[in-house]
Amino acid sequence: MAPHINKVAVIGLGTMGAGIVEVFAKAGHEVYAVDGSPELAERGKGFVTTSLDRAVGKGKLSEDDRNATLGRITFTAELADLADADLVVEAVPERMEIKHAVFTALDDIVRPDAVLASNTSSLSLTEIAAGTAHPERVVGMHFFNPAPVLALVEVIRTVLADPEVVDAVRDLALNLGKKPVVVGDRAGFVANALLIPYLSRAIALYQTGKVSRTDLDNAGRVGIGLPMGPLTLCDLVGLDVVKEVCEVMYDATKRPSDASPQLLRQLVLARRLGRKTGQGFYDYSADAGAEESDGTGEMTAAAAVVGKGEIAELIAKSFAHAGVTVTAIDDPAADVSVLAGNPLVVLVGGAAEGCGSCGGDGDECGCGATEAPDDWFTQVAQVLDERSVVLTADEASEFALTGVLSADVTVLPLRLHRPTRGGRVAEVGIPLEATQEQIALVRDTLEAAGFVPVAGPARPGLVVDGLLFQHLNDAVAMVDAGYATPEDIDTAMTAGCGYPEGLFAILDELGADTVADGLVEQASLDPSIVPSPLLLEHAAAGTPFLAG
Ligand code: 3HC
Repeated sequence: MAPHINKVAVIGLGTMGAGIVEVFAKAGHEVYAVDGSPELAERGKGFVTTSLDRAVGKGKLSEDDRNATLGRITFTAELADLADADLVVEAVPERMEIKHAVFTALDDIVRPDAVLASNTSSLSLTEIAAGTAHPERVVGMHFFNPAPVLALVEVIRTVLADPEVVDAVRDLALNLGKKPVVVGDRAGFVANALLIPYLSRAIALYQTGKVSRTDLDNAGRVGIGLPMGPLTLCDLVGLDVVKEVCEVMYDATKRPSDASPQLLRQLVLARRLGRKTGQGFYDYSADAGAEESDGTGEMTAAAAVVGKGEIAELIAKSFAHAGVTVTAIDDPAADVSVLAGNPLVVLVGGAAEGCGSCGGDGDECGCGATEAPDDWFTQVAQVLDERSVVLTADEASEFALTGVLSADVTVLPLRLHRPTRGGRVAEVGIPLEATQEQIALVRDTLEAAGFVPVAGPARPGLVVDGLLFQHLNDAVAMVDAGYATPEDIDTAMTAGCGYPEGLFAILDELGADTVADGLVEQASLDPSIVPSPLLLEHAAAGTPFLAG
């Protein structure tokens, strides 16, 4: 018979447990909130009360509702109090022996028809269930941090679970106003299996010292458009939790990208666990200094923007708006000698050849463009010298210039990403020969022009696509493995991690071919990057992943 769930207990009152208590109590359930000692139970009460008081302070909860919510919660250190609970949600630390101890104890306390759920991030539910007297009533109920805000609940069913229990827990999550996604038992489930490798790659890149933490966070938050940058998110989740999930994932997949980076392990050893200990990748203490700046405040006084079309116009207009004296060359037949000695030259190549659509043959698209002379890049190369920093806004001009430019001119690839809620990233690749002054000049000019600069090694994908394309590829591999549908994955990432759009929505927008080509380029430097066969099939067929 389908279980009826009214009285709920939550064991473990850390960040997640306290949030889960709040969710149930706000929805009208009587809740036992349990921790290992009266002091820990009191600390948990403090977390819940602070969160409710904040909601009152923001006018989101009335004083009466706050009091009624708290009145529905019994804080206790006694597991024996839970005898009449209909559902127990375990949220104790992620160690199998601790989980086993809790579930074994519960077997002797709760009714045989009570449902036992674990909020584990990644441990095997099957292993937890198999160690209990009634494995058919054990499921996963995985909430996301902050639990009162994020809607996703992953409901994990094992091969031992009673389908009626799984359905009852899914319906309960719906009644709590959450978005449940029911999935099988696999390391990391859906959201963590995708999120944690993405976070781990960001940490690994930060660990190289080649990208600053601000740039990495801006790459995720502004470049990809996610609610938080990867290092800030690690600090929210807790570095110990990120490391634990990394280890479980690595154990299951043996993929190098799933292993926990050395820096993460060191920070955990140093108890720099993120917000909860006051320090992680960032310092949250009251006396923390201001965030360091990656620039010097010395933008360029003059720049030339060579090319035609939307991007060239945007760059020229933004630079001029920032007070830069801009020489714009949009006619391929124009005299390029004016570029000589210009401190910053931006080439928007496709357009420099005439038109981004027709490549210069005005007859084709009716743009009226003049075709650039064959030796156009040679002419440009002849007037550029070491006094100029050259930004190339497209791969075509990078390629063309490389063949003709003298070695003493520094060329940095520039990628303007699509604008997102946080702004628009202008990403620059830093070649080995670039000096700190040149990098600072470029960063500061881009920043003054209203872009969010991100700088990293001049390698395929740079930082933003380096993170995004592998994240997308992981999602496709999960579908290919038959674990979840694109729709479920998009629900998991939007409802569980606050993504403004799902990974498959992003992928369909970019095109499977663009992502597959990008991954192939990235694989030239890192052979562990392998485009999923399903991605290649969609790229070849030109079909999107999501219907409509
Ligand atoms: N408790 C309750 N409410 C909270 C809260 C908390 N801890 N933190 C934030 N909020 C509320 C705020 O009060 C605010 O509400 P309002 O808009 O009605 O006033 C709302 O959330 C937005 O907060 P802020 O305006 O302060 O800040 P943001 O707009 O940046 O949102 C965020 C904060 C909700 C945390 C958002 O940045 C986000 O969604 N980040 C991604 C978090 C994420 O990915 N979580 C999943 C991690 S993985 C995980 O948990 C699984 C585990 O197993 C590892």
